[in-house]
Amino acid sequence: MSARQEFEKSGRFIEYKLKILTSDTDYTDFDCGITEYNNYLSNDALRSQNDHIALTWLLTERSTDKIVAYMSLIMDSIKLSFTEKELHNLNYPFKTIPSMKIAKLAVDSSFSKKFKGIGTFMIDSAERLTWSCNTHYCAARFLTVDADIEHDEGVMAFYKKNGFIPNAELYNKNRKTVSMRKDIYL
Ligand SMILES: CC(C)(COP(=O)(O)OP(=O)(O)OC[C@H]1O[C@@H](n2cnc3c(N)ncnc32)[C@H](O)[C@@H]1OP(=O)(O)O)[C@@H](O)C(=O)NCCC(=O)NCCS
Repeated sequence: MSARQEFEKSGRFIEYKLKILTSDTDYTDFDCGITEYNNYLSNDALRSQNDHIALTWLLTERSTDKIVAYMSLIMDSIKLSFTEKELHNLNYPFKTIPSMKIAKLAVDSSFSKKFKGIGTFMIDSAERLTWSCNTHYCAARFLTVDADIEHDEGVMAFYKKNGFIPNAELYNKNRKTVSMRKDIYL
């Protein structure tokens, strides 16, 4: 997938490619400011992909092939409370509802300093991929994420601005992440 995307700050644009990680990807320059996320891309993403644990998408700058952002997608299923099922008009007897999860998402700091809206663009891309999955392969009603409040307390605000809401079962046991979901058909 290749196109020209205009990001807000100062009307500048990136000509980008959205593509799946391959063994010849050069990720040495990628730096989102959080070591764990940098290390995941350089050490774990390809192995996870080869083991069919996570599929990683890269947003790259066309002219330089630099990685602007990455996200890893996996299948998921979430439990909804009775009230949540009412809210989403999903009155089924199943305990869980199929979903697609953004298991990792990070934007390179040098690009986020220059351009606004890259993280949002990645969420929109995940949503488009989930729609496509729904129409061609298998169902996924929600896009989900475990917002990593350990590394960034403010990150829930980013997901809320992108239409995610916290699950009723709010915090994971270790309280380092908050499970959030977005109904992509509401
Ligand atoms: C979190 C991250 C993906 C956001 O990407 P981004 O390109 O900066 O986000 P956007 O420019 O699309 O921001 C959209 C909105 O969310 C807000 N926002 C973005 N990151 C935020 C944060 N960390 N805390 C609070 N608000 C944030 C922006 O201010 C913007 O608000 P506005 O529309 O009112 O101006 C990026 O900062 C990042 O890679 N962080 C390091 C890794 C990480 O924490 N990943 C998430 C793990 S769950």
